[in-house]
Amino acid sequence: MDGRAIGVFDSGVGGLTVLHECLVTMPHEDFVYLGDNERLPYGPRPLGEIRRFALEVGSYLAAHDVKLVVVACNSATAAALPDLQRALDVPVVGVLQPEAHAAARATRNRRVGLLATEATVASGRYEALVWSVDAGVEVHAVPCPRLVPLIEADDPFSAETVEAVREAAAPLKAAGVDTVILGCTHYPLIRPIFQRVFGRDVTLVFSADETAREVADALARKGIENDPAREGRYRFLTTGDPDAFRASGSRFLQLPIAGVERVAVAELAGAAA
Ligand code: DGL
Repeated sequence: MDGRAIGVFDSGVGGLTVLHECLVTMPHEDFVYLGDNERLPYGPRPLGEIRRFALEVGSYLAAHDVKLVVVACNSATAAALPDLQRALDVPVVGVLQPEAHAAARATRNRRVGLLATEATVASGRYEALVWSVDAGVEVHAVPCPRLVPLIEADDPFSAETVEAVREAAAPLKAAGVDTVILGCTHYPLIRPIFQRVFGRDVTLVFSADETAREVADALARKGIENDPAREGRYRFLTTGDPDAFRASGSRFLQLPIAGVERVAVAELAGAAA
């Protein structure tokens, strides 16, 4: 039995898609979620800078006594998963692998689309993971720099968001993909828009539920689960504006968020020093 919380982080509210599945799978665990909103978006930044941010946030959570860290951000996973696993004393679970493997298994015509941030696309990680299952699958990757800022904006379901999704989808439709990886944890927050744009014949893949299962397995393997009879608690931290985080977080998560605590970026940098 281990009463410590599980740490979950993202550049913003996108990782709440992963937190939601974790709450469904492990309702007896405590969670602390950190959104690095002050430095959002991560996607347009060089991989080295995202790696530094991820190490700062991961180290901050580890220093605050979490028992496992979930990197609920594809860009941070692409840039830093092995570095985080080496640097931290607690297990670290990322988000790319389950999606890549699910897409390789799901495609019937062996043409897979990837929608993700510039950093995730530039990392080439999805191709490597898809090809580790089936090297004959074509992967068509489209970087989507407009989407994360639009999803974090006041009206995430605006006409501009729909237009940005259409723009991202166009080359994938032209390539005839039958499976599309939503390779950014923000994208499932607007999943109905993607599904309408692609239609029913295209399978959308995202892996928050598998990530949650992987977290539960890791806790079981290490014998660090909490008491299954209890009800878990959650805490939210942001480097950005707590009121803005509370408003969009509770809307997307459909969960009352009573208070959001502010963490200064300097505190994160201090944790990794
Ligand atoms: N949710 C993050 C991801 O999965 C968004 C990155 C960003 O801030 O651009 O990549």
